[in-house]
Amino acid sequence: MMKKVFVAGGAGFIGSNFIRHLMAQRPDAHVVNFDALTYAGNPRNLADVADDTRYAFVHGNVADAAAVAAAMRGCDAVVNFAAESHVDRSIEDAADFMETNLRGAYNVLVAARDLEVERVLHISTDEVYGPATKENPRREDDAFLPRSPYAVSKAAGDMMCHAFAETYGLQVVVARPANNVGPYQYPEKAMPLFVTNALDGQPLPVYGDGLQIRDRLYVEDNVRALLLLLERGERGEAYNIQADNHVSNIDAARTILDVLDKPYDLIQFVEDRAGHDPCYYMDWSKLRALGWQPEHDYTDTIARTARWYAEHRDWWEPIKSGDFRRYYERQYGDRLANARPYAGTSS
Ligand code: NAD
Ligand code: TYD
Repeated sequence: MMKKVFVAGGAGFIGSNFIRHLMAQRPDAHVVNFDALTYAGNPRNLADVADDTRYAFVHGNVADAAAVAAAMRGCDAVVNFAAESHVDRSIEDAADFMETNLRGAYNVLVAARDLEVERVLHISTDEVYGPATKENPRREDDAFLPRSPYAVSKAAGDMMCHAFAETYGLQVVVARPANNVGPYQYPEKAMPLFVTNALDGQPLPVYGDGLQIRDRLYVEDNVRALLLLLERGERGEAYNIQADNHVSNIDAARTILDVLDKPYDLIQFVEDRAGHDPCYYMDWSKLRALGWQPEHDYTDTIARTARWYAEHRDWWEPIKSGDFRRYYERQYGDRLANARPYAGTSS
């Protein structure tokens, strides 16, 4: 049984949901949350557990090998969420992505090996496989064809885990989740951006024709799978995590507007993302064999997410009024000035 879990990147979206789940499900487990608090890290995501004696926060960067090793000492399990996670930012500049997603992953693995940590879980992504369709879903041992700088940096970290399992016998397991949606997701990502813009009566910037497809995996389903993999995943194995809630971006935008009772003409078609992957699709029978099933379908996932943001303006309003505004202007200023309106579209 795990006594002390080192979590890297636990102040972000999935990491904070995971820590909350872990502490509720494993009352004996202690957590060390090691996080650099980049723009995406937010201590408020874990305000409800911050005073728990089983929880400790360490402000540190995974690119700093000595800091990682010092904070990990005494832990018997490790989960690595720490990453630069946004594809559009990686298109602007991927230097931090290489530093955190590759060097940082390497440092976490080295420390876990040297400290003889019993179990390591590394969070990768479905994007390492590159585009795939329902007719030809990717399996865990399929080739990687990552197409964005983000996906390449994640593929490199993922492969490093396999090297550590093979070379040093490290008990490391890799999780490859689909697109997560739910509470505490930074509003640069499509779903929280669309929801919060809709709540403010602002345009929903849909890239290209909006026909690109993503799974919408509710984050609570994902963190259940992650705890299962941390405890029961096999050494050196990767596991796909998908909810089969695939839907196009334009349909997702319309669902959000339906749930919030807002007009479709808030949708604006804007210049597409460069190298935009049309769809990801995975076979997840390996995870199903461990007993996991998603509990939230697409409609439930979107409705819960939209309601959470409607009820938590105090969480996202400070984010959207801070540095985020400069990013928003860079990413969407020209796009929205040259947008194609929703009205009259046949999409
Ligand atoms: P996020 O951007 O919300 O959070 C990332 C966290 O990592 C933040 O708390 C940030 O402060 C921290 N961090 C960043 N650089 C760091 C560094 N150098 N050292 C220490 N901490 C650092 O990301 P997320 O959406 O929660 O994603 C978590 C993980 O899951 C990432 O590895 C991501 O690639 C992967 N993933 C995410 C999704 C998704 O839909 N969000 C899907 C598949 C995989
Ligand atoms: P995103 O949430 O950035 O996740 P990822 O690129 O990692 O899948 O984007 C999800 C989908 O939404 C993707 O097809 C790109 C699209 N998208 C938009 O149409 N508009 C936006 O403003 C953003 C951020 C994304």
